[in-house]
Amino acid sequence: MTDSSETQVSEAQIAVHWREEEYYPPPEKFVKQANANDPAILDRFTEDKFPDCFIEYADLLTWDKRWDTVLDTSTAPFWKWFVGGKLNASYNCVDRHAAANPDKTAVIWVPELEADETLFISYGQLLRQVNEFAALLSDFAGLKKGDRVTLHMPMVPEAVVTMLACARLGVIHSQVFGGFSGNACGTRIADSGSRILITMDGYYRAGAMQDHKVKADEAVAEAARQDQEVDKVLVWRRKEGEYQSKIPMVDGRDFFVNDIIGKYAGHEVAPVSLDATDSLFLMYTSGTTGRPKGAQHSVGGYMAYVAGTSKYYQDIHQDDMYWCLADIGWITGHSYIVYGPLALGTTTILYEGVPNYPDAGRPWRIAEKLGVNIFHTSPTSIRMLRKVGPDEPTKYNYHFKCMTTVGEPIEPEVWRWYYHSVGKDQAAITDTWWQTETGGFLGSTLPGLQPMKPGSCGPGALGIFPVIYDEDRNEVPKGSGTAGNICIRNPWPSIMQTVWGQPERFLDVYYRKYNTDPNSKDWHDWPYFCGDGALEAEDGYFRILGRIDDVINVAGHRLGTKELESAALTVPEVAEAAAVPVIDDIRGRMVEMYVSLKPGFEASPAMEAKVTGAIETEIGKIARPKNVWIVPDMPKTRSGKIMRRVIASVSNFTDVGDVTTLANPEVVEGIRHHVQSAKVAKGDAPRELTETELAEIKAFGAE
Ligand code: PRX
Repeated sequence: MTDSSETQVSEAQIAVHWREEEYYPPPEKFVKQANANDPAILDRFTEDKFPDCFIEYADLLTWDKRWDTVLDTSTAPFWKWFVGGKLNASYNCVDRHAAANPDKTAVIWVPELEADETLFISYGQLLRQVNEFAALLSDFAGLKKGDRVTLHMPMVPEAVVTMLACARLGVIHSQVFGGFSGNACGTRIADSGSRILITMDGYYRAGAMQDHKVKADEAVAEAARQDQEVDKVLVWRRKEGEYQSKIPMVDGRDFFVNDIIGKYAGHEVAPVSLDATDSLFLMYTSGTTGRPKGAQHSVGGYMAYVAGTSKYYQDIHQDDMYWCLADIGWITGHSYIVYGPLALGTTTILYEGVPNYPDAGRPWRIAEKLGVNIFHTSPTSIRMLRKVGPDEPTKYNYHFKCMTTVGEPIEPEVWRWYYHSVGKDQAAITDTWWQTETGGFLGSTLPGLQPMKPGSCGPGALGIFPVIYDEDRNEVPKGSGTAGNICIRNPWPSIMQTVWGQPERFLDVYYRKYNTDPNSKDWHDWPYFCGDGALEAEDGYFRILGRIDDVINVAGHRLGTKELESAALTVPEVAEAAAVPVIDDIRGRMVEMYVSLKPGFEASPAMEAKVTGAIETEIGKIARPKNVWIVPDMPKTRSGKIMRRVIASVSNFTDVGDVTTLANPEVVEGIRHHVQSAKVAKGDAPRELTETELAEIKAFGAE
């Protein structure tokens, strides 16, 4: 419900003006060798060729049986791709390359401690490990096709082995980001109905061994509270013969994988021939409500799309040395560390730790030592490496042919540092815009064919047809530079199949807004609503402005305001809580929490710490608020809704706008004074915001 007394500002109504950036042509040397350097490819993916254009992607895979129908729309908008086709993802990522080239390196693992040895795993070795672990999963854990299993693994090769072993059996894996808390993991175990949890005892982060097993115990307890029993916890050891946790193993429930895998030495498990429309994995993401959404991804369409986009957008050739610095627990890790690159038979690098450990030269040393030529990371990492070591890249002798940025809008100045300093003026950059739900890239330049433009992702990817609508379903004139809600007019192979166990939510969140005929079986009637504000320039390039729902994108990770607020409300003294974004020069956005206390409780640093602690327990350190502000009362509308827009303006030092129509306008000045003077005293006042940032803060919390 919207209170008519509020000032309603939506992204769609804001015309945003920004300076047009110069084009950067792709470097000639890159173009010569690029997988996509013939403009004819653009003709193969025009709208009149849809959906058959995607056969080109499917043909990168080995199918047990070819499909009968490319796109079946009979259950719109639950699209089915390559219906009738049969295949196995593990076979496609491992077996076929192991047969052709067993000694070729599939995975390189770089442990965080520099003195520790880098591990090289060949396709032949990977095949053996995947087979043995699949045998264990099936025999010891009793897992079979269609079962869900939750993984809470750090950045280690065992995570890749585990995913591929699940894929081999048709077991649906649900990998939870290792940095998420035990409780967050437990909620996802319960939602997916997993009876098995696979984890590791510990891992290095910023030079310190983390006790990770402790989170497994919390996760199992939380899942039980939500009525999901976990039968077995399979624990990989970070170091052979050691145990990194203070928490004892639970008899009969917890098992060290390393101790039982020997029983399966040399075992072979035939890859299960799956329907293209069977599911490969779930990937949870945040939305507007507290319950996470399990984006459910298919075997056939997903694998085809990530293989195709890895080939044309990441420009992966078999002999490349590919390094994606994302976490395996996020969609980028699934699509562009594991499934895409391995489907193409290249070498993919996995790095355990943080990019600036022990210093800001680390990524460039790794690149030099391993001969990395494709590099993939996020604006947050780029901003951080630029801040702590702007000149480091020049000290190392590596050469990237192409680089990717993903996850958040990148500021043109930061883009330019990436291009000139990291890329040494020689690498093509793709700014890839997409989402957990979309499985693969939606918007990006084709690096060998389309010039780059800092701050813009580029046009729709091959076979993807974006459109910008306003709130009233009118199409914003193409190329007008007017902001609106970006949608994709057509389905594509790696669009999620549904939200696990919540088909109504799938319809509600992604399709109802712009669908005019719920009975239509014609894909033209079902634009996919991305939840991002965007604008399209005259040249057809899109600039993504950010989320238009109540989601805060922290360092490329989506956090829902509702889940943050529910976490704060687990503190018994807290009466009300509101989460807002603050602009941060490194992490893009950070969370600030506002809470009011129940009568009889006083604000104190200890109380603030309690709120922070609750958020870390419920969600994880990634969500740690920059500040917790305890206020006597929240600014509210007459209908009682907390005005997040007003407190977001206070946190960002922007104009709070008209507050006279609030139920309690008098509280605003007190909050503003308290928060802003404390921030100034801490040296925490933000720089002046750009026009798009201002628009975002102004629109925050609007419904
Ligand atoms: O707001 C967009 C932003 O990240 C959201 C998707 O987040 P997630 O599902 O966690 O996936 C991140 C990795 C694909 C989008 O709705 N986003 C993602 N990539 C970009 C971006 N914003 C601007 N530019 C990008 N390249």
